[in-house]
Amino acid sequence: MSLKQHWTLDSIPWGELRREYVADSEELFYMLAGASFIETTSDLYTRNLVRHFADNPEVSEWLEQGWEPEELQHGAALREYVRHAWPEFDWEARYAAFFADYSALCKPEMLLPLRSLELASRCVVEMGTASYYTALHHASGEPVLAQLTQHIFEDEVGHYKYFYKYFRQYREIENTSRTQVLGALWHRLRVIEDEDSYIALCHVHAARHPGQPYDKAVYKEITGRLRKLVGKHVPYRMSVNMLLKPLDMAPMARRVVQPVMEGMARLVA
Ligand SMILES: [Fe+2]
Ligand SMILES: [Fe+2]
Repeated sequence: MSLKQHWTLDSIPWGELRREYVADSEELFYMLAGASFIETTSDLYTRNLVRHFADNPEVSEWLEQGWEPEELQHGAALREYVRHAWPEFDWEARYAAFFADYSALCKPEMLLPLRSLELASRCVVEMGTASYYTALHHASGEPVLAQLTQHIFEDEVGHYKYFYKYFRQYREIENTSRTQVLGALWHRLRVIEDEDSYIALCHVHAARHPGQPYDKAVYKEITGRLRKLVGKHVPYRMSVNMLLKPLDMAPMARRVVQPVMEGMARLVA
């Protein structure tokens, strides 16, 4: 498998970045700096996943040569964006502190033992990132951010398709039930909310408000503000569609559940 990235850091017109569109928005700063931290740490997770699929050369080759370089490029490009938009932010120092916390959590034991379920859970992550970058794409009107988030969004949808394809293969092999899949989807949704973004925002908050406490209440207040900014841009139909796909529901049931879930997602946001 040869890696063909359809964009690189050099293809982003950094010189055209309109700082005045984004620099005063603490919410955008939180979202972009936080995402740059998590994406930059993708190699940790890839290593664990490759080990999980060591006996499947097709999957492990795609993880190492397709998925990981793209995720790392997302981290590098977002870091570059943050460097241009908020030059006062000491990215390296804050990332080091984030990495110390996050890497302690990102252990092979975190992976779901049934491989079909781990793949379903990766579909949730890719759904989450595809939705996140769509929302960011529309949030500011800043042209370089719009271009960058479009590229990342397309990559994330591509990742989803691979994970979904491999999920279907393993679901057959492991005879995974719909209830098990539902459990895995739910578990992953909770982890994204409770661990990944909580830790990332902790270290961005520490830079923005040195010495101030950070706990669940502060985290909730911040995410509330982020939702206010981008909630209306979240592509609910696409997100729910991507979330429900691994459940492989009958078309009839799907027609009932889809709009209900969409409505609930809008309400939560
Ligand atoms: Fe990514
Ligand atoms: Fe991805």
